[in-house]
Amino acid sequence: MTTTSQTLKELSESVTEQVIEWRRFLHAHPELSFHEENTSQFVYDTLKSFGNIELSRPTRTSVVGRIIGKQPGKTLAIRADMDALPIEEKNTFPFASKNPGVMHACGHDGHTAMLLGAAKVLSGLKDELNGEVRLLFQHAEELAPGGAEEMVQAGVMDGVDAVIGAHLWSPLETGKIGIVYGPMMAAPDTFYITIKGKGGHAAMPHQTVDSIAIAAQVITNLQHVVSRQTNPLDPLVVSVTKIQGGTTHNVIPGSVELVGTVRSFDAGLRKNVPKLMERVIQGITAAHGADYDFKYEEGYRPVINDRGVTAMMEEAVRDVFGEEAIARLQPNMGGEDFSAFQQKAPGNFFYVGCGNPVKGIVYPHHHERFTIDEDALENGVKLFVHAAFKFLNGH
Ligand code: NI
Repeated sequence: MTTTSQTLKELSESVTEQVIEWRRFLHAHPELSFHEENTSQFVYDTLKSFGNIELSRPTRTSVVGRIIGKQPGKTLAIRADMDALPIEEKNTFPFASKNPGVMHACGHDGHTAMLLGAAKVLSGLKDELNGEVRLLFQHAEELAPGGAEEMVQAGVMDGVDAVIGAHLWSPLETGKIGIVYGPMMAAPDTFYITIKGKGGHAAMPHQTVDSIAIAAQVITNLQHVVSRQTNPLDPLVVSVTKIQGGTTHNVIPGSVELVGTVRSFDAGLRKNVPKLMERVIQGITAAHGADYDFKYEEGYRPVINDRGVTAMMEEAVRDVFGEEAIARLQPNMGGEDFSAFQQKAPGNFFYVGCGNPVKGIVYPHHHERFTIDEDALENGVKLFVHAAFKFLNGH
């Protein structure tokens, strides 16, 4: 029997009800990064119930499933992240979070459910597959150093020829699939600055070294790193996102702490930015008789999509949904540790549109009222299933 595109579509649709059920269960029981004990057990047990899948636990809260076809061939890895965020959910539907202060506010519940759905379909077609589909259920996407790197270290990418992954995306309406060639998401780095002045009475500033006034200048001048010292054609963001210092109106504090993020794509630029930042911090603090501490931490690598694998995904979208479903999107400065898997094999990360203004599904990711249009889940399942046959069986 050869499995036609139509059969794959119908088989994918046949699991939709279950996929929605899984998503709702996961949504009601969210767990934070590196603490996905129950989630990973649920995934493990669900995969086990399908039969035909070789299961392993590469780290404490991740799961890998291998669907090994009858004929030898290539290996395609498909990744879904499983973690939730420290947010108090404000949605009131019956499957809203039952875990106070924790919420699936980014759609990872949907990612997990979609990959379970694809696993169910593909495990049933095991004998027709040439090669292997490797299911990567990843913990801790939301928290550096991230779960992807740990899984790669544990060897989950050994022997993998290509890797794909999806993000449900609420800015994109349901039915659309977002495709990006080349650079897609930035490298997100974090910095910590302490301005060390000298505290004292606010009425006698000349007897102090005012860490607040100096911090203000540091913040302003850090923007010159972006606007004056780097190539405007290389995307770069430097944002100070936290300022902490002082206690009351008549005391000049001895120190101020700044925290922020740097986003970039280019490896050379990324390496240079901390030096440019420190030159500004050093110069301004020295000019005013203050001192400083500066700590710069590199986060995930940028997500850069492989041309060949992206073309295959684009073709899969065209086959399943038609040309009009394809949304060609710009890169964005968000970060994703899917990039860790892309170090080991060419890969594609794509967006599954899940926004629906008519249904009131309009809130951004990481918002306390974020949710997904569940009609989008079936689209993700179809694409995972089609991609597997396209990559392994060439149709
Ligand atoms: Ni996310």
